[in-house]
Formats: sequence, structure tokens, C-alpha cells
Amino acid sequence: MESIIASASSQIDDARHENMPRRGPPGVFVIFGGGGDLTHRLLVPAIYNLAGAGLLDSDFSIIMVDWADISPDQLRQDFHDSLENFVTSRGTEAVALHGDVWKRLASRIDYVRGSFEDGATYDTLAKKTANRNCIFYLAVAARFFGTIVDHLGQSGLARETGGVFRRVIIEKPFGSDLASAVALNARLLRNLDERQIYRIDHYLGKETVQNILALRFSNGFFEPLWNRDNIDHVQITAAETVGVEQRAKFYEGTGAVRDMVPNHVMQLLAMTAMEAPISFDADAVRDEKTKVLKAIHTLQRHDVVRGQYTAGTIKGQPVAGYREEPGVDPHSGTETYVAMKLQIDNWRWAGVPFYVRTGKRLAARKTEVAIHFKSAPYALFRDTPVDKLTPNIMMLHIQPTEGVTMQFSAKIPGPTVHLGGVRMKFDYSEWFHEGPSTGYETLIYDCMIGDATLFQRADNIEAGWRVVQPALEWGQDPASLNVYPAGSEGPKAADDLLARDHRHWLKIGS
Ligand code: BG6
Repeated sequence: MESIIASASSQIDDARHENMPRRGPPGVFVIFGGGGDLTHRLLVPAIYNLAGAGLLDSDFSIIMVDWADISPDQLRQDFHDSLENFVTSRGTEAVALHGDVWKRLASRIDYVRGSFEDGATYDTLAKKTANRNCIFYLAVAARFFGTIVDHLGQSGLARETGGVFRRVIIEKPFGSDLASAVALNARLLRNLDERQIYRIDHYLGKETVQNILALRFSNGFFEPLWNRDNIDHVQITAAETVGVEQRAKFYEGTGAVRDMVPNHVMQLLAMTAMEAPISFDADAVRDEKTKVLKAIHTLQRHDVVRGQYTAGTIKGQPVAGYREEPGVDPHSGTETYVAMKLQIDNWRWAGVPFYVRTGKRLAARKTEVAIHFKSAPYALFRDTPVDKLTPNIMMLHIQPTEGVTMQFSAKIPGPTVHLGGVRMKFDYSEWFHEGPSTGYETLIYDCMIGDATLFQRADNIEAGWRVVQPALEWGQDPASLNVYPAGSEGPKAADDLLARDHRHWLKIGS
């Protein structure tokens, strides 16, 4: 978690300099699915950014493994072309591609053509990687995870002999329910030791997600308030304006619950609700995250709202409903939205509901955690024209804006006491001058240096699936599906979920 510590001190240039992460170790980065979309869109740009930041060893090389009949030169050219589109500066403006950085990186990219199911592919890899540190990145469809890891085990590629390390990074989806996640973990652990496995959740690569821990545990004044005595409830939102895009085949069998909740949403919840770890050591952090997820009450059916978008308007443009999207069954029962009320059964959070919601084609793109504090006693203001005190809310903005907003009451200037709501905002980009980032740089770099803090352990993943498992079963019932127009705040039933508790969601759209 070196990156957290480094970025926390980055407002002071000198301090930042002293905290510059060290160069990664020498080794080979093997990408299964080297010709695929994820590799083009995120992995190569991230490795390029690491190269540009001087964090790659001079003896670092990359092997792409895929079945496509393409020459290594053509593959390098394809990467170059997609880099021009995808190298980003904080995810927005494109920055110029530095020719010399790219040239050096390109010269270290090799290609192995072969099937993931063929032992010969692994024999070739074994020859090319003998006695070298290796990271195997599984940027492939989930059905290949088990097969590839079995081959890594059988071919000896997973064996750490002669002082080298062998690590495996696995993308999501990690299973499709609790039973399949448990089975996949067992299969991986037959071939690898837990400390060799790096299960990715790209939300943990987001600076502001990591910042939740830095904010809570490196400041003295948040933690004393961070409990059931002072907090009324918490809202976690991961709203998107995009629809199913070109992914209908994947999404139809997945839906919003599987796609977002056991992984990304549970990570946000765990970062917000976990106890302070005894250190920033990977296991210490992951122990606390698992504990809090395990403390979540078994879901009740009336605490879950599933929704699917119908035709509507996004940014002034008409858009189709989910069932009209290409590749989607016209009678599909897949949810594109879910809201849940979760209760954490521990000393800190007993009685404090965590309302979470995520969905596609909503009013705005917004990921945030909003901590709603209990109201101040009204006694002092009962003789003043105050109908309602502005609730104190601390909003942790994850995207698209990154920062923290505090909302509280202040006296409106004038001879009488009138109170109004005000906001105080810390904007990440105003304070910190961050380098180009896709979000994967930290994760790849941390794996290179053997820091698994930002990766999920087997028990973290299983705890997330255990929370949502009942909702997957209720999802089979067509009556559980509500609809909402694209571009809206979500289904009405989700508003009712909070209204029942005399609360309401913060608005997603402006
Ligand atoms: C992915 C999901 O894991 O996360 C996508 O499969 C979703 O459906 C995406 O769009 C959201 O990620 P981000 O970083 O845009 O919030």
C-alpha cells in the first residue's frame, strides 16, 4: 500500500519526491488474452505509464499470449495505435505519446501464439521465462481462469524455485455466485499458494477509494464520530449513464447484482465500515474487510429492489430500453439496477442502515459514499424560524469528481437567526497534481512489489458473494423486477425502500 502513503503526502513537492515509489523488480509480465480489449484499453496504457514514470526495471519484459495469427510487429503497432487513443491524463484528456518511452517498451513485447488449453503453449512459456520472476495476468473470459491456472500448476510455471516469484492476477467476474466462487478458489489453491494470487477489483485502483482509508485513519477527527452514536445512515451509490453497451451477451446472464455488488459496492462498504487495521499490511487490512462483510445481516427480501431500464432520455438524447438493446432477450428479466438496505451486526454499526444502489442508464454518472450524521438537538433553535436543520452529510466523491464535501448549517448573515445549508469542498484535482492514470498502474505495480493490500483474498470474495446470494435467488422471480425510464433516478420502489424508514436518497442527477 506504498501508493497510499506516497499520495497522502504529495501536496508537498519535496515530501513527494522522498516518497517516490521504488522501481519494480526485474521479470516477465505474461498477459493471457494479450490481443483482447482489456489489454489494449487498460493494461498496455498502464504499463506504458509505469514505464514513463521510470518504475519498470531495465530487465522487465512482456509476453502476450493469444490465439490470433498476428505477427509480433503487427501486435506492437496495434498497441501503439490504441495507446494513442487511450493513454489518459486522470481519465480525461489524452496526453502525447512519448516516442522514446514507447519504443523502449515496444522492444520488450514478445508474442506467443497458442491456445490457453494446449500444454504446448505453457511449454513455450516455460522456456521463455526460466529462472525469472513472472506475473501471469489472466485478461481472459472467466471460463478460462481454472484451465489456465491448472496448466500453470501442471507445467511447473507456478513453482517458485531459485528465489524467483510467480504470481497470478485474476480479473473479475470471480464466480457467478457463492458456490462457484468457492469452487474457483479451491481450484486456484490446488495450484497456487494464496499469497501468489492477486484477485483484481479495479475499484481498489481508484485513488479516491484508497483515500477512504487514508482519510479515516490518518486524521484524528473523523474516527471518533464514525459510529452508531453519531451516524444516522450511510448511502453508497454507483450510478452510470451508459447502458449495456456491446456487452449484452455477458450482461444478460450477469445483471447489476453480480456485476457490481459483491465486488465494487462491497469494497466501498468495507472501506467505509471496517475497523482500523493494526497496520497497512495486506493481511491486516484484508482481515478487517472480511470481518465487516461477514457481519452483514442476512438480506431480507423486502430490503432488495431490482429494476430494469425502459426507453428514456440521457443527456437530451433518446435511448432504447434494455429489452430493445441488441443481443438482449425482448422478455429479459435481467436487472440493470439494484438497491439494498444492509445492516451490519457489530458494536460500531448496530442500527445504522447502509443503503446501497447501483444501476445503468441513470440520471448521471456518480459514484459516492454519503455519511449522514444524526441531527443536532433542536432545542437551541426552537424559538427561531428553523423548520428543519440541514442534515450534516459527509460525501466521499469517487467519480467523476474526486474529493470530499461536508454539508452543514451556518447562520445566514443578517439581524435575525436564520440558518442555511452550506457546503465545504475538497477537490482532489485542485490539490494534487497527479500523473496520467488508468487506475491499473497502482494494481500492477503493487503486484510487482508483492503488496496484496489492494487485492481480494479468497475470504473477502466469498464474504461478498454470501451477502448477495439471497438476492440472486429472488432474482429468478419475474415479479421482483421493477422498471425505470432511462435517465431517471431509478425505480420508485427504491424510493419507497428509504421512505419506509423516513429517509430519502440523495439525488443522482443535478
Ligand atoms: C465493471 C462492470 O466491473 O465496472 C461494468 O462490469 C461497469 O458493467 C464498470 O460499467 C464500472 O466501472 P467504473 O470504473 O466505470 O465505475
